[in-house]
Amino acid sequence: VIYFDHNATTPLDEQVLEAMLPFYQRFYGNASSLHRLGRLSRGAIETAREQVAALVGTVPIQIAFTSGGTESNNMAISGLAKSLDVGAIAYGATEHPSVLEPVHALSRDGWRVRPIGVDADGLIEPQAFQKLVDPALRFVSLMLANNETGVIQDVAQFACELRNRGVLVHCDAVQAAGKMAIKFDELNVNLMSLSAHKIAGPKGVGALVMDKATQLKPLIHGGGQERGRRGGTENVAAIVGFGKACEMALSRQLDSAQRLLTLREQLEEGLDELGVADVFAREASRLPNTVQFGVPGIDGEMMVMELDRHGVAVSSGSACSSDGGEPSHVLMAMGIESGIAKTAVRVSLGLENTASDIVGFLDAMKRIVPDRGRTRRA
Ligand SMILES: Cc1ncc(COP(=O)(O)O)c(C=O)c1O
Repeated sequence: VIYFDHNATTPLDEQVLEAMLPFYQRFYGNASSLHRLGRLSRGAIETAREQVAALVGTVPIQIAFTSGGTESNNMAISGLAKSLDVGAIAYGATEHPSVLEPVHALSRDGWRVRPIGVDADGLIEPQAFQKLVDPALRFVSLMLANNETGVIQDVAQFACELRNRGVLVHCDAVQAAGKMAIKFDELNVNLMSLSAHKIAGPKGVGALVMDKATQLKPLIHGGGQERGRRGGTENVAAIVGFGKACEMALSRQLDSAQRLLTLREQLEEGLDELGVADVFAREASRLPNTVQFGVPGIDGEMMVMELDRHGVAVSSGSACSSDGGEPSHVLMAMGIESGIAKTAVRVSLGLENTASDIVGFLDAMKRIVPDRGRTRRA
């Protein structure tokens, strides 16, 4: 199988698994226990906290472990809402459902929720941003990189303006982490979500990065773990795996971004030569691993199944919404017509991919859409 669905999830790295295994087998202590086994688990969690902090350029105390990106996003949005007076919240129109849904839930509690529009390339429109004049605007959620198109937003710039107005900012950096350099302290945001399974770590673990000054009510109350920010016995093995994955992602960051970009360019050139596909958000700055395209006249889900038959695993839109049959809200927000949006296929490359995978994918595309190129080029 040629696996081209890394934005959905990545294979677990062997070294990450090796780092995790002892915490399932021998070192099973509860990190809150005072005895040696407990202290061993505690120490491992604190090492992981340092590794996660290092990947995103911050200090360990600002990292709270969670069960993944979805929980981190919910914790940020619901936690902020519970800590602030009811007012208005704004969010990018292309956010992930794990941001959109908690935001919509707030509207039932009296919050005014305001989407911020994007342009045809999926970038937040400066004019739409300037229109956020509601004096009751309390906080804004903006993603760093989009999971479908790979489009990278200038979060630092928007967050700086918002901060100057006293508005808090949350950033979903789940797709960006490990694929581009991130410095939390330079992004000007108050909260930032991360997830392990997008960077060769285990599923079901992530983090919310929280600047020390931001007060947040917890989502999960319990035994005071994570400095009272998130109750529940820590998933030590998963946290250790997350830490190791971050350490590895940091050490290979520049190399892997360059290598992925080269592969992405080969893929896009190949698609150009076939002449059958249009790449969405082509002109925007995008993650080095992500290409979303459509072949006019061929439904995205159909294309996913065809590619699967030819041994290539991709997604249509995002994995989370791919059973909905609705066109991607991301592409719709970019003003793409729904018939075209329904053709969307997402290729997301990963560390283990090679140039021969790109060739294999392009061969499969040629077999699936044999004559269209010639018709369109003529
Ligand atoms: C941008 C973005 N945010 C959040 C999430 C949710 O992360 P998790 O799968 O760890 O809950 C995802 C994963 O699909 C994502 O792509």
